[in-house]
Amino acid sequence: MKPVTIGILGLGTVGGGTATVLQRNAAEIARRAGRSIELVAASVRDINKKHSAELNKVKLTLDSNEIVDDPNIDIILELIGGTDLAKELVLRAIKNGKYIVTANKALIALHGNEIFEAAQRTGVTVAFEAAVAGGIPIIKAIREGLAGNQIEWLAGIINGTGNFILTEMRDKGRDFMDVLKEAQELGYAEADPTFDVEGIDAAHKLTILASIAFGVPLQFEKVYTEGISEITRADVEHAGELGYRIKHLGIARRVASGLEMRVHPTLIPHRRLIANVDGVMNAVLVHADAVGPTLYYGAGAGAEPAASAVVADLVDVVRALTTDPGNRVPHLAFQPDAIQNIEVLTMDQVETAFYLRMQVQDQAGVLADITRIFADQDISIEAIVQKEEKDEQDCVPLVILTHNVLESNMMVAIQKIESLVTVTGKIVRIRLETLG
Ligand code: NDP
Ligand code: HSE
Repeated sequence: MKPVTIGILGLGTVGGGTATVLQRNAAEIARRAGRSIELVAASVRDINKKHSAELNKVKLTLDSNEIVDDPNIDIILELIGGTDLAKELVLRAIKNGKYIVTANKALIALHGNEIFEAAQRTGVTVAFEAAVAGGIPIIKAIREGLAGNQIEWLAGIINGTGNFILTEMRDKGRDFMDVLKEAQELGYAEADPTFDVEGIDAAHKLTILASIAFGVPLQFEKVYTEGISEITRADVEHAGELGYRIKHLGIARRVASGLEMRVHPTLIPHRRLIANVDGVMNAVLVHADAVGPTLYYGAGAGAEPAASAVVADLVDVVRALTTDPGNRVPHLAFQPDAIQNIEVLTMDQVETAFYLRMQVQDQAGVLADITRIFADQDISIEAIVQKEEKDEQDCVPLVILTHNVLESNMMVAIQKIESLVTVTGKIVRIRLETLG
């Protein structure tokens, strides 16, 4: 059978890794796909840049449109990143009848609804496994492997850079910026690394996971997003002493009143498997009604883990080339006309437990004032620890864990406690999930 021809847009970390894996495993990939796959063209920004993959037979161009418009190319791999040019190229390629594989979570989270609609109209497929959790086949697992279930919630460490930074800070006492620099050198970080550390990248990924888990449209703007840049070593240590680890989680949960979609640092009990996922590794815990909990683990970033997901998509797409578009796995797991809007809850409406740390004067009555405020807001305390080390204002750290509480009540309590004369500075608050 005639080989399938592909063109890669962008030969950076993922594009370069994909070219390498396609070459190294060509025979095995062809045995799976049923046809050989030929990389014929790639677009780059700098034609003289050295690449690890063998590119002798590959036409390099500075103009991605040349590839997108080439009638001899069947499948386009969009590995440039960003949203403007990538969207333009993907929509143009779809219009030209080309099948797409992309690793671009920002593109899918922001413009996926429009892109999938265009793809469906044209009868082509847009595959995006590498967009979430690097090499972990989490899209396939949720979209196909769990298709018989009602998914109740999922929680994941879905940014490799952030998890690498938190792990190195905790285990080696390294400085935040120093670890971030290493993550950039290793090719883990986004072109703009604030996407990693401020939780935007994780929010893109959570948008996609929530959509395929619950059959809702992609709605990035409704994800509550907090990053890891405010996490201090002191909180990591206090959490550890209380039996918890701080992880940056993306959480999507269906509750009676609607859908939670949130990304934030979270204390999780040390004994949970997901609490022990370290370095660049990612993990997604999915709780579904029939199967119960399932956990998916693997490298969350890096050239070849991402390439693994891109090439798996490519094999799927090659197999789909000859199938009836109406009988393919729907892009967002649910049939397009069955996608439903479920109200997305604001954080005020969400219930979680909390870790609080505050600096208080070491004197009688302080604790009574704080517990009275908690009682007024219907907040029940799980644990209180007062540390001995005094700061320059003679205050000591007080660490409190609460049971589940409505976030709006907690915010009122925090405001009232911060206004007590016996409490100095801002209260650190980190949400806590038992993930039971
Ligand atoms: P890189 O920055 O390493 O690669 C992007 C490549 O695209 C670069 O080679 C760049 O060229 C090229 N490029 C940029 N603009 C153009 C243009 N106008 N025309 C032609 N080429 C262009 O990014 P990554 O490989 O890390 O990321 C690519 C995508 O994959 C992103 O969407 C990212 O979010 C996603 N992703 C990344 C993972 C990772 O571990 N890095 C894992 C999973 C997904 P030049 O080198 O000259 O700048
Ligand atoms: N910057 C991303 C991360 C790449 O660190 O997880 C993988 O999506």
